[in-house]
This record gives sequence, C-alpha cells and structure tokens, in this order.
Amino acid sequence: MTKSARKIHDITEKLLFSPLKKDSEYILELFDFFTSLPIEEDHQGDISLKNGIALSNKNASDCIKDYKRTATFLRGTYKSIMESTKRFPNIRLNILYAGCGPYATLLVPLLSFFEPKNINITLIDINQSSIASVKNLISKLGYEDYISDIIVADATQFQYPKNTPLHVVVTETMFHALTKEPQVAITQNLAPQLTEGGLLIPEEITISLGYSFFSKEPYLNQYDDTYQIANSANKNVKRETINKLFSLNKNERTNQKDLLHFFESKWHLIPENYEETPDICIYTHIKIFDTFQLQDADSLITNPYCLTSLYNLQDQNKFKIKYNTQNIPNWEITVS
Ligand SMILES: C[S@@+](CC[C@H](N)C(=O)[O-])C[C@H]1O[C@@H](n2cnc3c(N)ncnc32)[C@H](O)[C@@H]1O
Repeated sequence: MTKSARKIHDITEKLLFSPLKKDSEYILELFDFFTSLPIEEDHQGDISLKNGIALSNKNASDCIKDYKRTATFLRGTYKSIMESTKRFPNIRLNILYAGCGPYATLLVPLLSFFEPKNINITLIDINQSSIASVKNLISKLGYEDYISDIIVADATQFQYPKNTPLHVVVTETMFHALTKEPQVAITQNLAPQLTEGGLLIPEEITISLGYSFFSKEPYLNQYDDTYQIANSANKNVKRETINKLFSLNKNERTNQKDLLHFFESKWHLIPENYEETPDICIYTHIKIFDTFQLQDADSLITNPYCLTSLYNLQDQNKFKIKYNTQNIPNWEITVS
C-alpha cells in the first residue's frame, strides 16, 4: 500500500468502523487529504446539459464537506458492495460510478477494503478536468488494478458494455427536491442496465409534498466551511397533509403524463385554513442502502424545498404540480 493509500484507508476505517461517529471530523480529514493533491485546472465550470447542470470540479469537490451526506453514502456504498459479494459469489463485481467528480469520493476511500480481483470499477464524469484529476488520484494511490475505465461521458447516455453484467451503480448527482442536477435522467439511463439483483445506490429517493411554515423548517445551512442545522429547535415544526409524490428506484415507474414531465401529481384542493402552514413544501428522503438513510435537513440534498406560498394561490380552488427533467430539472405548479 502506498503512503497515500494508507492515509485514506486509516481515515475511512474510522468512518466505517469507529463507534465514535465523529463524522464531521473524519470527513474534514478526508477533504484535507483530497485537496492536498493537485487538481486539474477546470476550463469548463458548471456545464448546462439537456437534463441538468453538471458541477465544476471545484463545486463537485466541495460536496465532500456536506459531511453527513458523504459519511452516510460511504457507509451505505460499502454495505452494498458487501451485500453484492454475497449475491454474486465468486465473481468479480462490476461497479459503475456515474458523476464521480475529481476524487470519486463515494468509492475511492472504500477500495482498500476489497481486493482488486473482486471488484472492477468504471468511473465516468462529463467534466474533463474532474476525470483528469481522478486519473491522477488513482495513480497516486496505486489503485490501477481496481479500475477498468476512467472516461469523460454523459451518464444520461452512457452504455455499459452489453455482454458484461453490471452489478452496482453509484450516482449522486442531485440537489434538494431533485432540482437542478440530472439524477433522474442518469437513473433512468443506468438502472435498466443493471443485471438482475444488481444494486442502485442510492436505492430509493422519495419525494413528498406537504404544507408547512417554511421559514420555521430546520435546514442544513452552509456558511463558508461550516455546516449547521438552522432552526434546529423546531424539530417538530407543524406540517400538514404529507403525501408521497413518487420514488426514484431501479423498478418504479412514475405517472409520467407526457414526454416533458417525468411526474404529474393529482389535483390538490387548496386548504381552507392555512395560517399556521402557509407554504407548499417538497421533502426529500434518501435511502442510500438498507438502514443508511438521509432525512430532512441531514444534508444539503435533503433540505426542505419551498414551492410557493398558499397565499399566492388565493381565489383558486385546486393545484397540481409537475416535475420536469428537461434543461434544468424543476417543479411547476398549475392552478384551477
Ligand atoms: C454533486 S457532484 C458529486 C460528486 C461526487 N460524486 C460526490 O458525491 O462527491 C455531481 C458530479 O456529477 C457530474 N455529472 C453531472 N451530470 C453528469 C452527466 N450527465 N454525466 C456525467 N457526469 C455528470 C458532475 O460533473 C459532478 O462531478
């Protein structure tokens, strides 16, 4: 093991197995480790694609600091690979990491816990400098034997080799309420390419709708390098009529009404009294794998999202909402 590989192994070992669960401390160590390595200059910045924005390598690398996200994804991904070794015994697992960013953060720290003869990794990202950076990282760590390909590619179009079973897909290309980034389009392309019994990470993203007083909702606040839960005293903030809208997983189809809209809700009657819960909010829950989950305000990607205030819908009877994955994924509201 190289000196760098030993360092990342030791940090990850604490993260996975230490009972102390000092996530913010360990994740900062991981971030310092990664950012001590040279990163390729990014001439592209954030890239606007057909189904969402691909973050620049700097913005993608900053995602590491969303510490509960990173720690929970690492634990869940580790567990999913362990589970896959049981489901597919005595074969080398093929794992695809789509949108790996400059450090392949959700997989590279785990590699030293497996043998290269047992796992075969493909890394893809649309950002050229992220791919150049991750290539340098793999070479610095001496991890070439784990890797079959590191490619610049659009994960919404990428085709895994047809005659090779794909056992695990890992992708975290999302923002709260599935806005802005192309998680849905990437999942739609890659999940059907999994072999039977293969695992999608995250396993399930559930989107729900409810009424609340948005400015009282707890949320994870990022200020420079610190992440703190704002409104944490309001843990039991009043919420009304929470309805699941849809789940994104490897099987479920949504009630897609047309090509543009991935999801369209039923009509919701506008409540008569909404002084205490005047905002239409969307909540994101992520089951990464098994018990490894992110709840509201655990991370920037599960923060509550305010669609609009019910006061803006005065004089209307009902509304429905649609989620669209074209250009910049977002939510639309229609009233009647
Ligand atoms: C939110 S960042 C996450 C980076 C890293 N996976 C992590 O979890 O820390 C999303 C990454 O996905 C990449 N990405 C976004 N859309 C993509 C697409 N259509 N094809 C390939 N990569 C994409 C971005 O360039 C960025 O590196």
